[in-house]
Amino acid sequence: MTALALCSRLERTESAKREPAVPRTAHPPDRRPLERRGRLVNVAVLGSGTLGSAMSRLLSRSGHRVVVGSRDPARARALGGPFGRAVEVASLADAAAGAEVMVLATLWADTEEVLAECGPLDGRVLVDCTNPEATSGRALVVGHTTSGAEMIATWAPGARVVKAFNHVYAEILDEGPRFGAATAAVFVCGDDPDARRVVAELAASCGFQTVDAGALATARSLEPLAMLMVELVRGQGRAPGGAAIGLLERS
Ligand SMILES: NC(=O)c1ccc[n+]([C@@H]2O[C@H](COP(=O)([O-])OP(=O)(O)OC[C@H]3O[C@@H](n4cnc5c(N)ncnc54)[C@H](OP(=O)(O)O)[C@@H]3O)[C@@H](O)[C@H]2O)c1
Repeated sequence: MTALALCSRLERTESAKREPAVPRTAHPPDRRPLERRGRLVNVAVLGSGTLGSAMSRLLSRSGHRVVVGSRDPARARALGGPFGRAVEVASLADAAAGAEVMVLATLWADTEEVLAECGPLDGRVLVDCTNPEATSGRALVVGHTTSGAEMIATWAPGARVVKAFNHVYAEILDEGPRFGAATAAVFVCGDDPDARRVVAELAASCGFQTVDAGALATARSLEPLAMLMVELVRGQGRAPGGAAIGLLERS
């Protein structure tokens, strides 16, 4: 038996301390499997906005090597993120070139163009954190018979696309996945089981409960789940760092 649970915080903790971006240095890609690297992953976070900077802080805090890819690295550096300790900022193509896992944190309208700028992504794991939101931010522009994630898979042929983190507010990434005895979940879906495992391990290494949600088409359910969170926060006034989804399971 399984059920969804809404994890809520009664008191919000202070947001994570702002960390300055550091100058860029090159990291060679590490192609060894996760288990031979003590779970350290070279990650490119594509997008320097609210979610991209929070993902970069979360992943770097959890010990991973992170490069933020931006269409305008100079502007992103000047804005300072903050992206997290030892995080580099690079062009989209440079960030993608050195990464085994890419985290897509772009606005829906920019996503196809950003993927084109990254170049070929054959065989690489592409974590789709986006939601195909209308500009109002309160509705999806695709759904039911397809999903943003499935469209992204057509825009990045050969990439192993995994939907994850799209229903988790950036504030949760900063304030942490623990809600007393409960832990916020990251639902993971994709057509490549090995890529799903890599992304689930990445989310688990950041402290989240992970739920294997099957094939990429499950994104048709996960994208509306993000809209539920948007309604709870923007419509019903919950704090964005104060509520998240978890899965209750009976053994
Ligand atoms: N925010 C959340 O809590 C959250 C949670 C889950 C999923 N998502 C999804 O994540 C995606 C990105 O959302 P977001 O909230 O991170 O959007 P955002 O803050 O508007 O950032 C989107 C993009 O705008 C550019 N940008 C950042 N700062 C900018 C500035 N000061 N001036 C101009 N451009 C700037 C960045 O791209 P460049 O560096 O390439 O210019 C960035 O990737 C969306 O698909 C959303 O549905 C968001």
